[in-house]
Amino acid sequence: MKHFLEIDDLSKEEILEVLELSRVLSPPKVLSDVSVGLVFEKPSLRTRNSCESAIFQLGGLPVSMVSGEVGLDKRESAEDVARTLASYHGYIGARVFAHSTLQRMASALDSSGSDTGIINLLSDASHPCQALADLATIQSHFGFQPGLKVAYVGDSNNVTRSLAIGCLMMGMDVSISSPTDYGFSRAERERLRLIGNVGFFTDPQQGIAGADVVYTDVWTSMGQEEERQQRLSDFAEFTVDSVLMSKARRGAIVMHCLPAHEGEEISREVLESKASVVWEQAQNRMHVMRGLFLFMSGVRPRS
Ligand code: CP
Ligand code: NVA
Repeated sequence: MKHFLEIDDLSKEEILEVLELSRVLSPPKVLSDVSVGLVFEKPSLRTRNSCESAIFQLGGLPVSMVSGEVGLDKRESAEDVARTLASYHGYIGARVFAHSTLQRMASALDSSGSDTGIINLLSDASHPCQALADLATIQSHFGFQPGLKVAYVGDSNNVTRSLAIGCLMMGMDVSISSPTDYGFSRAERERLRLIGNVGFFTDPQQGIAGADVVYTDVWTSMGQEEERQQRLSDFAEFTVDSVLMSKARRGAIVMHCLPAHEGEEISREVLESKASVVWEQAQNRMHVMRGLFLFMSGVRPRS
């Protein structure tokens, strides 16, 4: 794998390998003398900090650039940005509005014969680095037991897509509860059904029934701010609170990629409850980035 744009750019076996590499706490310095360019078209706390920390731990130099500094497709084309950054850096991570921007950057590097890989740090379509951390978190609590039920409640968005693909690849059952008009398209549902056992609901109480893992994300993603008022009304029945959590299995965990909007997609009570693993999940962002760079470098630590 050269570029990492969606979680299924890795096979199931490769995901398991990345997760295993994420647990190597004193890894070889595979990024020694290597710099990594990190471009952010949107804000970030976890992604930027976890990437920079992981790169530092592997001996590399992170070079982060935020929106206005680069001007993707404004100051110069995304293709030219990619080719320029590839002449300095071993890897390029990018957080972009349009997923097609990442695809264009990857194509530009492929056609120029560059070895530099593009890593998706979130696009409108997917968030595969988050999905790796989500899988690491689920694995540490339950292992990947077949039939383990992961229930996503909220907007069917970038996080949902990568999470669902990853969990289905690992053999888990997935349910996705979204209000009418905020679910995946028919084609997308079919695509997910081809991977594994997935159900789609408009009633979150049905979707969450018997779940081992309950997952939610913001109702208004970055770039959708103008829809916020409409979404607050359309998602009013989709707050993950203690009443909804009572429908999940006893011992279920609660996950959220963060940032959380208290009282909207999740209540403070649930976020702070014993079931909540959100801080562990946030820390896993750093561990899986280490695992991903180790995997992409091709160097394997001696066990
Ligand atoms: N979960 C996540 O990607 O957080 P940031 O937007 O803060 O990077
Ligand atoms: N769905 C959210 C995830 C933030 C990490 C967004 O795209 O804004």
